[in-house]
Formats: sequence, C-alpha cells, structure tokens
Amino acid sequence: MIRINENYQKLQSSYLFSTISKKVQDFQKSHPEASIIRLGIGDVTRALSPTVIRAFHEGVDELSQDATFRGYGPEQGYAFLREKIAQVDFIDQGCSLDPEEVFVSDGAKCDTGNFQELFAPDIRIAVPDPVYPVYVDTNVMAGRTGSFVKGRYEGLIYLESTKENRYVPSPEQLDSTPVDLIYLCFPNNPTGATATKEELAAWVKYAQKHQALILFDSAYVQFIRDPAIPRSIFEIPGARDVAVEFRSFSKTAGFTGTRAAYTVIPKECVISGENGKTYSLHSLWNRRQTTKFNGVSYPVQKAAAAVYSPDGQKEIRELSDYYLENARLIRLTMTDLGYSSTGGDNSPYIWVETGKDSWEFFDSLLEKTGIVTTPGAGFGTCGEGYIRISAFNHRDKVEEALVRIRNNLGPNKK
Ligand code: MLT
Repeated sequence: MIRINENYQKLQSSYLFSTISKKVQDFQKSHPEASIIRLGIGDVTRALSPTVIRAFHEGVDELSQDATFRGYGPEQGYAFLREKIAQVDFIDQGCSLDPEEVFVSDGAKCDTGNFQELFAPDIRIAVPDPVYPVYVDTNVMAGRTGSFVKGRYEGLIYLESTKENRYVPSPEQLDSTPVDLIYLCFPNNPTGATATKEELAAWVKYAQKHQALILFDSAYVQFIRDPAIPRSIFEIPGARDVAVEFRSFSKTAGFTGTRAAYTVIPKECVISGENGKTYSLHSLWNRRQTTKFNGVSYPVQKAAAAVYSPDGQKEIRELSDYYLENARLIRLTMTDLGYSSTGGDNSPYIWVETGKDSWEFFDSLLEKTGIVTTPGAGFGTCGEGYIRISAFNHRDKVEEALVRIRNNLGPNKK
C-alpha cells in the first residue's frame, strides 16, 4: 500500500504565497471591477535588461545550429558563468573564491530548500522568526520537527527578530545546548533588516566554536547601498570554514521567471560523520546535484553571464535603483501616515508595524484598496502585527497604491 510521508501532515495547509494568491483570486472573482495592485510576493515586474536579452538570444541561436548546439551541460554550471561569478561577486570584493566552489542552479528557493538533505535527521536547527518559510517547511518535510503548536514547530529553535534587536538575532539568544545549523538571511526577507560585520562575525564565531554550519541567504544583496554593510558572509574572517552562501539572479537581474541562482560552498567546509570522520560539504553537494539536477539551460546561463559585463552591471544597478526608489516612496508614505517601519533602504521589502492582527490588516487592505501585501504572521509569530510591502512593481502602480493607502487608511491611530 502506498503511504504518505507523515511529515507532510504537519505542514500548514498551503505554502504562504499560495494561500495569498488564492485569497487574491477569490477577491478578484467577487470584485471583478477591482483593479488589484500586487505588492505581496517579491516578483519583479521590469523587463530583462538589453544586454541580458541579447545574450539570451545568442544562446538560443547557438542551439539552432549543429556546430554550436549543446546538450547536457555540467551539473555545476558552465565554467564561463562560474568564473564570472567568482571574479565579480567575490574576488573583486576582496573575498577569495575558486570558481569550482560555485554551483549554478535554477533558484535560491530550491537550493535553500534542498540543502538540508545533506544533514542528519536529528540535528538542532535555529531559524529566525520571522523567517522565509522555505527554510522551515523543508525541514518539516524531512522530519526534523515535531508538530505545529501555537505558530511554531516543536523541535526548531526560533531566533526572535524584533524591533528590540533591530530584527538581527544574535547567538546570545541561544541557550547552552549548541545548535548545529543556523539559517541567516541578509538583507532580510521579510524584515528588510541588514546585519553589520560585527553581528555576522558573532555568528561565525559561534559556528566555529560549536562546529555548526551557517546557511547564509543573500538573495537580496543587489539592494545594498550602504558600503559598511557586508555583502557576503565570506567577508567575515573564518567564514569559509563554517558557511555556505546562496545567491540568486531573480531579484538581482529580474530572473524570477527565467530562473538562475547559485550556491557557494568553500572547499574548507566539512561536516562530521560517525566515528569522528569528516566529509567535504562541497563533495556531498556535488554528489547530490549530479544525481538530482541536470543544470540550468545554456541560454539562461549565457544571459546570467551577461549580467557581469560592464553594460550588464550598469543595467542591473539601474533596475535595483528603480525598485529602491519605489521602496523609498512606500516607506515615506507609511511613515507619514504614522506607521513605523524598517527596510526599504538596502532592501526591496518594507516591514510595517500595523499594531493589528496581520491577516486581518491584510484582508481589510485588500478589501478597501485592492492592494496585496504579505501578512507578517505568515513568516512566523514575531511577524504578528506587521505586514510586508514589496517594492517590486511599476512606479505608476506603486504611486497609485500609495494614493489608495492614503485615502483609505488615513493616519495610524495607536
Ligand atoms: C518573497 O516574496 O518572499 C519571495 O519572492 C519568495 C521567493 O523568492 O521565493
């Protein structure tokens, strides 16, 4: 008899963004006249840039001739892309990196979700709260948690990220029983918060002391403007021994539909097995990828490589500047209306304190204005009382949304 993986029964009935999408569809059905403005899921709206598109076309054309056709590519990604990533994103920024430490993939969601496969079922895991739900749900699916009780899974260690700690958790929040795996994301999804070098260094020190591993998600690095903010965990001395970094072309260059990302695993990174033996994390992930993944399509990798040309770099800077200007406008309006918020300066997300039940606030905003946001509680119990507003949309839509918000919400009365 075919039987279910019982761990799936512990999950919430649907993934956060699927729940929201269903609510929005239902709203549109019952209000066919409503013009909906989406500031919910972080999905880009602007076209791929000219340099990227040109390379994409060239890649497709090459596939049309036997002489330049390519079948299966390397599972780890083409060398031409891995070399560019290593050079521009790391070496030029002062971090040493071997292109072989870069694994190209079709998304940071997939990589952050799949990576836990390499670990034992009984490791202790720390996740921030609020948190990108993929880190949590994939560990639930793998059986590393107990049941969902009062908004949290038993067995996970939640690192409360609140106004009091500027939404940046610290190892001091942990008790004396060490954790083995730590998920961090900066600039943060959902709060938009950024961590300082000192704050990241404290986590690296913790991981070194306890032979733990940090999974560092920096999918939003492209939005950092403050030069003091670290762009990579590998800027922290010692991080190469204890951290893996995930990046994406989705928000960086508008690839949410095109799909390209990468994961960096330093060769120094090891993981313990039984009898004190250690194993290379790089080799294990390589083993996993060669078995389960056949690489990203050639034209997409050509397009991703074009991001690193001088024109490509200029164009993606302009794209992220555009969304950051949206973010600035959103934050300005919310502040003006008396809502305190964070993010939006080195991040495309604005985390707004509503002081009200976040699903109710979400529903009422949708009902009154047709604007879709993301309820903070969907990211964890510490998100209750907040909503996340995404800056990914066209300027005119954002401006229209802000007019509707002003007209319908009025000043925040605490
Ligand atoms: C988000 O809105 O949190 C992101 O778009 C989700 C993702 O990148 O998968």
